[in-house]
Amino acid sequence: MVAPSLLSNYPVYPTLASRAQDLSSFSIEESLATDARRAEDFTLTAAGLELDYSRHLIDRETLSLLLTLADQASLPARAQSLLGGERVNNTENRAALHTLLRAPDVGDGPLEPLFAEVNETLERMRGIANQINAGEHIGFRGDAITDVVNIGIGGSDLGPRLVSEALRPYWGSVRCHYVANVDPADLQDTLSELNAATTLFIICSKSFRTEETLANSLAAREWLWGAGADDRDLYRHFFAVTTNLDAAREFGIPANNCLPLWDWVGGRYSVWSAIGLSCAIAVGWENFSHFLAGAHAMDEHFRTAETAANMPMLAALLEVWYTSFLKAGSHLVLPYDHALRKLPDFLQQLTMESNGKRVSSTGATLDYDTAPVLWGCAGTLGQHSFHQMLHQGTRLCPVDFVLPLSTHTDLPKQHARVVANCLAQSRALMVGRSLESARESLLRRGLNEQSATALAPHLSMPGNRPSSIISMPALTPETLGALLALYEHRTFCSAQLWGINAFDQWGVELGKEIGEDILNRMQDDTNAPGMDTATQRQIAAWREQAR
Ligand code: F6P
Repeated sequence: MVAPSLLSNYPVYPTLASRAQDLSSFSIEESLATDARRAEDFTLTAAGLELDYSRHLIDRETLSLLLTLADQASLPARAQSLLGGERVNNTENRAALHTLLRAPDVGDGPLEPLFAEVNETLERMRGIANQINAGEHIGFRGDAITDVVNIGIGGSDLGPRLVSEALRPYWGSVRCHYVANVDPADLQDTLSELNAATTLFIICSKSFRTEETLANSLAAREWLWGAGADDRDLYRHFFAVTTNLDAAREFGIPANNCLPLWDWVGGRYSVWSAIGLSCAIAVGWENFSHFLAGAHAMDEHFRTAETAANMPMLAALLEVWYTSFLKAGSHLVLPYDHALRKLPDFLQQLTMESNGKRVSSTGATLDYDTAPVLWGCAGTLGQHSFHQMLHQGTRLCPVDFVLPLSTHTDLPKQHARVVANCLAQSRALMVGRSLESARESLLRRGLNEQSATALAPHLSMPGNRPSSIISMPALTPETLGALLALYEHRTFCSAQLWGINAFDQWGVELGKEIGEDILNRMQDDTNAPGMDTATQRQIAAWREQAR
């Protein structure tokens, strides 16, 4: 694939930049009132999801300029390059073929050999999940497995953790747990409630070199040994998912219990692979395959829909509009569904590890902003915390409201409140409250003229604050798969528009190297030169405590 250009080099860039300067007279509320078709025209459906982007700071002219940008950036051709297995990760000379993991078929083309390996692995996953759920996989004392602990971090944790929690209504009898932090409290808290004889660990690590995962895996093995298991029992209690099969075998996990990953699957795009094994066990194979099918439906939409009707492309154009033209520094994701409370954590890695870059894919320094800070929590919790800033603060922060329209609980009446709150927040951000209406409401409450005038600025809200609503009839394995695939493709498209590589993460390496150096210094009790005085002081404080 030819490297994408810099965003600021596209011919339409200056026009979009000057349009961003002229936005002060644009009112979202007014455009909905005067353009009878806006609500309908600014809505897309795909793979069981609906994206309502009518409450954004764009008019039809801006939308058409953004579509011109997509055209000048050859976005549809770039999507085909991704899906066709081209080496889109240029700094590591790799493809990014997470879509292959959920494809039902690839025909006889060049991807066929990889597809065969994927299928073989999916078959093995199916066998393992079925065996564990049937109580046929037994622990070292002959008992059926009751609990699965996924040990992994980053992409080897956030995806499976989100998916299994989001699909809790689909769980069978085996419980899943997730341990990621190198802080031993994470592992210890989890294990304190478990029985070693009925616990299975899945070590998920693409590299099998990650400090946190190795430390937790060694401690988990000690725990099993301490409970009476020995080396010969490890195959009953450990599976590994990795590209580094030798290291997994060295740890003591037999080949039959090692599932492969491939260098063309990025960690943060890997939940569809055997990294999702814990989810497949939790929800059963059929539901896991529906999750893959939902993502594939979004892939097909991404591959075939024209740009103006293409949900990931549209979402990416909006992201670039807010970030690089309107200088919004953050993007808020608010799932109005308790089951999706881990979605912001997952999306933080997906978007910020992918697109938190300051040079283009060819190494040129960028003169515009890339990945905004992504944050969020489950609605309605934020309403009683940070929404104050959304409504009256000084910063522009576009919001994605994610809204399943029905509930898996048996309290549908209470769930209506969830929906009402979501719609109310989106509308309140848009309409705000004028100074005059704030003053009038204070007068109605009985305040005198002087007090009402003095207090009104504190009650008034500017409004005109943008949000999308991504809704679905229900949160199911299919719609969850489609939702995650939507954000994956949005991330890729934004990267293409910014001219950056979404699939490497060189920025995380320096901290790992320095961490190792510092640990050596702490353990060796040395004050070898080459360390700044502030860090030396902190190490000395630790030594004092550790004595
Ligand atoms: O340190 C960042 C990172 O490499 C992520 O990209 C990755 O998802 C995570 O660490 C875990 O890596 P691994 O799966 O190799 O243990």
